[in-house]
Amino acid sequence: MTDSLLIPLHVKYIQSLDKRTDELEYWLTEHLRLNGLYWGLTALDLMNNIEALPRDQIINYVKSLQHENGGFGGHTGHDPHMLYTLSAIQILVTLDAVDVIDKDKVVAYVVSMQNEDGSFRGDQWGEVDSRFVYIGLMALKLLKRMDAIHVDKAVQWVLQCQNYDGGFGNTPGAESHSGQVCCCVGALALTDSLHLIDQDMLGWWLCERQLKNGGLNGRPEKLEDVCYSWWVSSALAIIGRLHWIDKEKLSQFILSAQDMEDGGISDRPGNMVDVYHTCFGVAGLSLIGYPGLKKVDPVYCMPEHVIARIGLKK
Ligand code: FPP
Ligand code: ZN
Repeated sequence: MTDSLLIPLHVKYIQSLDKRTDELEYWLTEHLRLNGLYWGLTALDLMNNIEALPRDQIINYVKSLQHENGGFGGHTGHDPHMLYTLSAIQILVTLDAVDVIDKDKVVAYVVSMQNEDGSFRGDQWGEVDSRFVYIGLMALKLLKRMDAIHVDKAVQWVLQCQNYDGGFGNTPGAESHSGQVCCCVGALALTDSLHLIDQDMLGWWLCERQLKNGGLNGRPEKLEDVCYSWWVSSALAIIGRLHWIDKEKLSQFILSAQDMEDGGISDRPGNMVDVYHTCFGVAGLSLIGYPGLKKVDPVYCMPEHVIARIGLKK
């Protein structure tokens, strides 16, 4: 157990990820390669170590994943999807290199994913989920092209995802879930629509996600998980109620999930680490003011200085 963030170890862990080709995990997560780069790069920048990954190589790799229809695949030869398209834009914006890709094509791809009712599909196969509304809105906001879609319809659809308990689900009528809450609240923040929801009710649902051990869960009766340090806290921060949870206990919980020998953060103490939980653990710590980290923006899950550089900081 340690009460400090082991930054040099986590930097080494993230650097090692593309060299672990002898591990099964490396091959099982091939479809997440681009997401992994976004998670790793974001964690590194927040830990003041963005230069630990090779900038030019990343830019060329991301560029190589754009398809003719404008969307991005998760790795070489993989089909385009909204999840990877957002990661591509976030990486390029973070590296100040968004001009290397065809932005108009990305915009056309995102526009092509919006349904008549305002919702968004994840890809050509048609899955609808509040994650994709958030992703579509964020991608266009980062590209300064929100005008290209039906923003009002998107907002109306997101509002339908709010439940009587104050939380949000993945589609209208679906059970409240912290990940979806983060996406819906993010979508409403991106469209200046937060005044349309009951923020006190939502705040109650969110702060009740904190368990005795300080960790946060995704739904009532579920176990704590480090990634929810992000999904829950970012939504609380966006609605100005981050002080409704015990930050010190949350900080202790995240720190207790570190691998103190090889670096990286896991979902909960004692489990295998991965770059996803490393990113959201570090981002969670940044959000609650852990010393020595760069500030993260709760709406974009990107370093605040990047959002300020492109003129989107509120
Ligand atoms: C739960 O993950 C989290 C969600 C459902 C939200 C995911 C949001 C996105 C992919 C949008 C992009 C996000 C950012 C930060 C830019 P899970 O189902 O893996 O959780 P589990 O561990 O409970 O299964
Ligand atoms: Zn998790």
